Amino acid sequence: MATAGSAVGLGNIWKFPYIAGENGGGVFLIIYLVCVLLFGMPLLITEFYIGKHSGKSAFGAFRALRNNGRWQWLSWLCMLTSLIIMGFYFVVTGWCFHYVVAALTHTFKGMDSASLTSHFEAFSSNGLLELLYGFIAVLITACILWFDVNKGIERLSKILMPLLLIMMILMAGRVLMLDGSSTGMRFFFQADFSKLTPQVVLSALGQCFFSLSIGMGVLITYGAYMPKNQNLTTTSLQVAVIDTIVAVFAGMIIFPAVFAFGFNPAEGPELVFVVLPAIFEKMSFAWFSSILFFLLLCVAALTSTISLMEVVVAFLTEATAHTKHPLDRHKSVIVVFVLVMAMISACIFLPYVFKESDVVSSCILMPLNALAMVLFVGWFLPKKDIQHELCKHNDWRRYLPMVYIQIVRYLVPLAIIAIFLNGIGIW
Ligand code: PHE
Repeated sequence: MATAGSAVGLGNIWKFPYIAGENGGGVFLIIYLVCVLLFGMPLLITEFYIGKHSGKSAFGAFRALRNNGRWQWLSWLCMLTSLIIMGFYFVVTGWCFHYVVAALTHTFKGMDSASLTSHFEAFSSNGLLELLYGFIAVLITACILWFDVNKGIERLSKILMPLLLIMMILMAGRVLMLDGSSTGMRFFFQADFSKLTPQVVLSALGQCFFSLSIGMGVLITYGAYMPKNQNLTTTSLQVAVIDTIVAVFAGMIIFPAVFAFGFNPAEGPELVFVVLPAIFEKMSFAWFSSILFFLLLCVAALTSTISLMEVVVAFLTEATAHTKHPLDRHKSVIVVFVLVMAMISACIFLPYVFKESDVVSSCILMPLNALAMVLFVGWFLPKKDIQHELCKHNDWRRYLPMVYIQIVRYLVPLAIIAIFLNGIGIW
């Protein structure tokens, strides 16, 4: 459930609809689902395996399994990826906080599509206000790590996340009743393969990694905490299914509403922030439901920011442990706090940094890390250990480890390289 908490976040509700909208809707959805099956599942198992087998976080895991420092660069890269993601992720978490306040103060009452768009534009061109909300989001996450209350947050999110899903189901029901919603459903569920380009495939791959929190070492840490008898295949399947259901529901809410209210599906990062308030205006208890929804969205975002920040904090603590200037947990939290504030300032005041850090992390760094991880497990770790870990049954499932090994040795690496080269136009 903790991993599902890290996986489900703004990636599903904010990023998925906007990337799907920019990449042709239905055709993106199909490629995305194929990516989850083909790459998501094997990679979830791979990262969990590295963590569970080594019992270490991303910093110590590779060294513990290979007993030499040759793979240490991969933990550095995981940390760097985490840091880059935090820059824009905290900015968007700040937007969610702002929308809670705006909902509370009845800001959206009676606004039409044009005024909702200009509200967002006015807010996002006020850099200092954005920075203030981003700061609040970083501060809350840092306090949670400082006081070590992550466990409490996880317990709380076990109640709040199902509530978020229930709200999303109700909202999906409501938007389906809007005039013109069927065009949106067709946009999202009918694949038009003439829109299929290498860029669509690379975006779907990147989105799959981002949404499942793959290729950053977060899952290695969670794997390290798993009880010995936990089945990796089942856990990975559960995480992938929960995460995908939330993303698909987000699409089923946003796209019908986009067409019913006359928005543009390829609007970009602001898409859900202009569409959601318009939906609440049409719902009963508009004021209450909009506050509740944006609050739950903040919690979903925070469970992800906690895991993102934890990677870097744990990394710094472990990396400096045997040096002249060791950083304990509290000092690491302060260092990360300062670094993240610098990152989010760059994302707010230099808009291309926002866009580029999103693209670079999802479409370059995460696939690269994931590629290195599958090669590490597929080619450098003893096969019999993997077989032993994955083979807990005596029925047809005993073939799973063999299939898994072939997939991580050949299929996943070759496919990632091909999609990557194809997407950036080299091949
Ligand atoms: N998966 C999270 C989301 O969908 C984002 C995230 C990425 C969290 C990587 C941790 C690590 O919002």
